[in-house]
Amino acid sequence: MTDNNYAVRVEDVHKSFGATAALRGVTFDAEPGEVLGILGPNGAGKTTMVNILSTLVRPDSGHATVAGHDVVADAPGVRASIMLTGQYAALDEALTGEENLVMFGRLMGLRKRAAKARAGELIAEFDLEHAAGRRVSTYSGGMRRRIDIACGLVVRPEVVFLDEPTTGLDPRSRQGVWDLVANLQGMGITTLLTTQYLEEADALSDRIIVIDHGKVIAEGTADELKARTGGSYCEVVPLDLKRLPDVVTALGPLLSRGFDRASIAGADRIAVPAPDGAKTLAEALRRLDFAGIELVDIALRRPSLDDVFLSLTGHISDPAADAEPQRQAVAS
Ligand SMILES: Nc1ncnc2c1ncn2[C@@H]1O[C@H](COP(=O)(O)OP(=O)(O)O)[C@@H](O)[C@H]1O
Ligand SMILES: [Mg+2]
Repeated sequence: MTDNNYAVRVEDVHKSFGATAALRGVTFDAEPGEVLGILGPNGAGKTTMVNILSTLVRPDSGHATVAGHDVVADAPGVRASIMLTGQYAALDEALTGEENLVMFGRLMGLRKRAAKARAGELIAEFDLEHAAGRRVSTYSGGMRRRIDIACGLVVRPEVVFLDEPTTGLDPRSRQGVWDLVANLQGMGITTLLTTQYLEEADALSDRIIVIDHGKVIAEGTADELKARTGGSYCEVVPLDLKRLPDVVTALGPLLSRGFDRASIAGADRIAVPAPDGAKTLAEALRRLDFAGIELVDIALRRPSLDDVFLSLTGHISDPAADAEPQRQAVAS
């Protein structure tokens, strides 16, 4: 494919700030309509990457295009293809939601009739029918956010950047952002979403790249990333821990071949690889029942993205450890 067939294409991008190497050879791409999650801990280089793609920061070397436009050679082309914020402040409180949308359409060069039609579509898209005829000054925070973003979509952007859009938000506002991403996905708009939350990348993205210390360290769907940790397992907790050796005997061939009997000293549970999911669990239960072993718990566990991050980087991503003030940006 040529650059024009990718919504976003990044090749070997480097960026340093003085002695700090923020990006050390980043390569990835996003296809049109895809929600790409960029997952990484604080300081990984996510904002630097978004700033380069939205032409706020120039790369030291490498090559990046957005909607086929080179971020250095054709910055205006990039800017015309992405969703702009900063427009937020331009909402006119004295106008209704619909009037704001029409005004934005007119500012973006739409004819009156087209601007009205587009406003109607966005009002429906963002569930604002009940509020469209009211002044924005009467809107709740969540509604205001929706109308803000709708204004940014009056002229359909090809790519939207959401840089840690939920960091520091309460659960309800977070849900609003999640709904917004689902809206963008439904409209077929390519979305790059950075996050420190593994759960969020999992829930929202079609595909995820994991970045750490300025490098892409893994890439795939959430399921593919999870499969890297060895997949699902079944956890068995006997009522009487003295019976752990009997558990091991009963489970027999279900345990991995390299299972070390000595490893159960001091353990309080046994993990059984569960390649067949619930079938493996049922088989384990049958065997333990047959051996007359009472259980406190038996459960099928899927590895979380936290497990994935740990196995990839040797450390857990902990957003709370070192939170920076939110630099909220939907590009700019
Ligand atoms: N303007 C800047 N000046 C100096 N250092 C910077 C600047 N912007 C980012 N950095 C450094 O680059 C690294 C990556 O930062 P950033 O892209 O903000 O990461 P993230 O968004 O993943 O938290 C960090 O070490 C950060 O301190
Ligand atoms: Mg950041």
